[in-house]
Amino acid sequence: MTFGAAILDRVARLGRHSDSPGHYTRTYLTPAHRAAAREIAQWMEEAGMRARLDAVGSVIGRYEGAEPGAKTLLVGSHFDSVRNGGKYDGVLGILVPIACVAELSRRGERLAVALEVAAFSDEEGARFHTSFLASRAFIGRFDPAALERRDADGVSLAEAMRAAGLDPAKAAAARVDPATLAAYVEVHIEQGPVLLDSGHALGVVTSIAAGLRHTVRVRGEAGHAGTVPMPRRHDALAAAAEMVLAIEKRCSVPGNALVGTVGILKVKDGSSNVIPGEVEFTVDMRASDGRTHLAAQEDVFAECAAIARRRGVALDHTKTHEVKAVPCAPRLQDAIARAIGRATGGEAPRLPSGAGHDAMVLAEVTDVGMMFVRCGAGGVSHNPAETVSAQDADAAVRALLEFLRNFSTTPA
Ligand code: HGY
Ligand code: MN
Ligand code: MN
Repeated sequence: MTFGAAILDRVARLGRHSDSPGHYTRTYLTPAHRAAAREIAQWMEEAGMRARLDAVGSVIGRYEGAEPGAKTLLVGSHFDSVRNGGKYDGVLGILVPIACVAELSRRGERLAVALEVAAFSDEEGARFHTSFLASRAFIGRFDPAALERRDADGVSLAEAMRAAGLDPAKAAAARVDPATLAAYVEVHIEQGPVLLDSGHALGVVTSIAAGLRHTVRVRGEAGHAGTVPMPRRHDALAAAAEMVLAIEKRCSVPGNALVGTVGILKVKDGSSNVIPGEVEFTVDMRASDGRTHLAAQEDVFAECAAIARRRGVALDHTKTHEVKAVPCAPRLQDAIARAIGRATGGEAPRLPSGAGHDAMVLAEVTDVGMMFVRCGAGGVSHNPAETVSAQDADAAVRALLEFLRNFSTTPA
């Protein structure tokens, strides 16, 4: 079986660990998530690594270098998912390095550095709104306040950790000493159409877009759907709907690097015969230039406030997430490009990432690089149609293997 076919086989196996029998959803510390962690650990051990579970449930495999005491090159991604998502998002960036280590073991090869493969346990934050929880814990930035966050069933993060055999009081122990890291590299599906359109299997990421998220709450006046005349209503959902369209309009201003999304909208105590009294929705805004979204944020909430005044509803919002734009280290970009060239004989286009990645967090403590793998199905992601070909997965293993075998801590 080629590297690629074996990768796709494992993506399918891992994809069976889902919170829902009907579709692929794997959120932080659910039974499916723990089963996936066990399978990843087993594959790491089979590849010749020592696997450990860290204090927040990430699985870290270690492959010693030729020289004891050498720095550690960290390669990884996440194994949690969005709801009803695609099976490759994050997972590919764990399976590709595991396949590389298995090949190095088979050849009896050791690298100039120690190699660790990190399967981060919570990047999407879909269950507790805790984006990048695991990689933040890894660099020593676990936020204890997150322990109080509750999921849709009212389970707190602390309770979920205890149920998974983790000690919430020890979450900060996931921290590793950044001085031991040589660099961080992440292989990830592109989650867009650029490589598909240009006809390249692999690409080199230049930078990762900045982003922010808010939870917005609109409070009007619940009332009887049959008796309150339209002009006297303070309909929270109608107000929120106008705000959602205002967000879309502001973020659609042509010629800027901005995107805006309302991904969740909930009507509190909604009934078909009740005028909605309270609505909560999320806003996700990003800009590849790292700043356009900040100006748009001001405009968006000024417009929402004007809509609220006009409709006689109350508005408040809380920022739940913010990440700055992150540049990928030029030396790693060049090394990844050379490795792609050697492995595929082709060129390695360079492109920015509109999606966020754990690499944004690791960039706070070490140089980061990213390799993109072409997405099929029009480049769609965060969608069950997300797909990668066996050929492209094979190219990714061969290119990463080239990168690893030529990686040096001394500048080229
Ligand atoms: O939202 C993102 O960009 C990533 O999927 N967490
Ligand atoms: Mn994702
Ligand atoms: Mn991802």
